[in-house]
Amino acid sequence: MIKFDCTHACSMDEIVAYQDRVNEVHKWITEKTGKGNDFLGWVDWCKNYDKEEFEQIKKSAEFARNNCDVFLVCGIGGSYLGARAAIEMINGLYADKKPEIIFIGNTFSSTYISQVMKYIENKEVCVNVISKSGTTTETAIAFRLLKQFMERKYGKDGARERIFATTDKAKGTLHDLAKAEGYQMFVIPDDIGGRYSVITAVGLLPIAVAGINIDDVMNGVKKAFDDFNTEADLTKNPAYAYAVARRVMEEKGKVAEMFVSYDLNTTMLAEWWKQLFGESEGKEEKGILPCSATFSTDLHSLGQFVQDGRKCLYETLVLFEKPIEDMIFPEDAENADSMNYLAGKNLDWINKMAMQGTLEAHEKTGGVPNLIIKAEDMSAESFGYMCYFFFIACAMSCYLLDINPFNQPGVEVYKKNMFKLLGKN
Ligand code: PA5
Repeated sequence: MIKFDCTHACSMDEIVAYQDRVNEVHKWITEKTGKGNDFLGWVDWCKNYDKEEFEQIKKSAEFARNNCDVFLVCGIGGSYLGARAAIEMINGLYADKKPEIIFIGNTFSSTYISQVMKYIENKEVCVNVISKSGTTTETAIAFRLLKQFMERKYGKDGARERIFATTDKAKGTLHDLAKAEGYQMFVIPDDIGGRYSVITAVGLLPIAVAGINIDDVMNGVKKAFDDFNTEADLTKNPAYAYAVARRVMEEKGKVAEMFVSYDLNTTMLAEWWKQLFGESEGKEEKGILPCSATFSTDLHSLGQFVQDGRKCLYETLVLFEKPIEDMIFPEDAENADSMNYLAGKNLDWINKMAMQGTLEAHEKTGGVPNLIIKAEDMSAESFGYMCYFFFIACAMSCYLLDINPFNQPGVEVYKKNMFKLLGKN
């Protein structure tokens, strides 16, 4: 379901040279013995997930779909990016589906928070607060506002029915609060970190509320598990080949990787990917800087840098063979815009020609290597499959650098300073 092509960046021989090292790391992943191994629960989650909770997710999603205009997802980082990536990729940006999904708890911006609070004032609302630690400040600030709003609007009992909490199964401030209030609770497993959690209730509840079939998502994860977990051979495992290609690029002095897609509804997929690789790999003064662009939109901004600027980056082109929708460009009798040369062509064909032209310009003229990841479509199953592809590629990529992929010690530094300034004990 995913094809990987390194030929616009390096040779397969350069990748296969890593085979012995990959065999060793493959064992660390599948036998769960690598660094940070208490966070390798995502590896076989598609077999082990709680089926009862899965059914409850569907029920709660159905309740929300029938009872609200706006479904608020209150979380930050791994507690929202995956759901947002999935919903936008699978449904598109203007799918005209109800309820509308709004993300909050991911910023301190007073403008953003105030505007969301005003926007929901006269709407029917449900809330999903998501935090593994249960103490994340951005999320806690937004949730206090939402909780008060919900209780004013629906009363304590009504609010209780409409608030869902996804958090640790046994401990934490949010866990204790949700339990005391009697909210429907969902669990973030102990052995799955935030940025690997989209395939748990963290991602699945908002995804189901958006009308997406979560069985299909999990089928995609399972297929990817079957494809990548049993095979360390770099000529047969595209996820590992991609991970190794990143290291090959780095050896050639490429310090930045630009995730490039050609569909605006995959911009958040790139944001999710940036978190996955940035937070997992950027440690001990090592790692490749993940950045992203959506072409052709960003060809009119960043394209200049990619073509002619400093040769510090390579692109990872994430292509979808089938778009969600397509249309034919119409003929115009007057042809005043001189665009009739495209009449009768599909917009997706035009997009793909732009991609081919750009690939050639960047690679051949600009000297920018391109790794290509090709997926069939933007379905729920493809999303699940792609998540697992990137999870296992990320773990391999980090372990090849001898880095623990599952912690984020650097994130704590700003928090310490901020708490001091905020007067937190
Ligand atoms: O990947 C991670 O672990 C982080 O990005 C967290 O998801 C993020 O910081 C939010 O944390 P929490 O879910 O504890 O509120």
